[in-house]
Amino acid sequence: MSETLPKKVENSKIAVHCEGVSKTFGAGNAAVHALRGVDLDVRTGELLMLVGPSGCGKTTLISVIAGVLRRDGGDCTIFGQDYKLMTEDGITSFRGLNIGFVFQAFNLIPSLTTAENVATPLIINGMKPKPAVSKARDMLIQVGFDERMMRSFPSDLSGGQQQRVAIARALVHGPRFIVCDEPTSALDGETGLKVMELLRRLGCVEDRALVVVTHDSRIYKFADRIAAMEDGRITEVVDSASQLKVLSEQTI
Ligand SMILES: Nc1ncnc2c1ncn2[C@@H]1O[C@H](COP(=O)(O)OP(=O)(O)O)[C@@H](O)[C@H]1O
Ligand SMILES: [Mg+2]
Repeated sequence: MSETLPKKVENSKIAVHCEGVSKTFGAGNAAVHALRGVDLDVRTGELLMLVGPSGCGKTTLISVIAGVLRRDGGDCTIFGQDYKLMTEDGITSFRGLNIGFVFQAFNLIPSLTTAENVATPLIINGMKPKPAVSKARDMLIQVGFDERMMRSFPSDLSGGQQQRVAIARALVHGPRFIVCDEPTSALDGETGLKVMELLRRLGCVEDRALVVVTHDSRIYKFADRIAAMEDGRITEVVDSASQLKVLSEQTI
């Protein structure tokens, strides 16, 4: 995979540009400097993995990029837009249209069927429930779901199936930027690999960018590039896991 990569990345556009991004939680003696000047570009068409020890700032960084948290300093643009120049409502609607989220804990709504869960982002974006559920069903077919599974509730599904629903929900509205925070860490090895194959196949298309935060070295092979993070900064960005200087520390 990595041999074809540099060309792919070279021909792509910048989806996300971060320069000197900082974020501090709390103040005074209790201040936690979660981001201490992050420089990072994410390109369209790529799956960038963000790796690093627990507490180094990975979730904070993707939350800033996704417009969930406001940065304190530095520059950050996503598809040329800057959250600093938007109102809260503007950010919410930008996120609804442009960003898809996949979390470790799936975060499905237990009282809704699989198809209704996947339809949620469309309904939030103003689509009527009937066409939204119909579009959600098309998306669920792409992640391998049949009629019976579409009518089931999250509690009827295995972890791997729930994560497939979460991926369908993250992609159904055609977002340009997909953020996955430890998407395989609640899954066994084999299921985790299947989930990554799905993310790669459905998520990595020309005008889209994917960032996957992970601790799981077994899935590094799905990355186009890997960005290593330490203590609130990006310390290296490489094309393949074998080039990672911090690999031994990452391997768990
Ligand atoms: N809402 C918050 N309030 C206070 N501290 C936080 C908050 N979120 C994260 N932190 C702190 O910021 C640092 C980075 O956290 P995080 O981005 O979650 O790291 P990672 O995802 O790499 O494990 C940690 O020290 C964490 O305790
Ligand atoms: Mg985290």
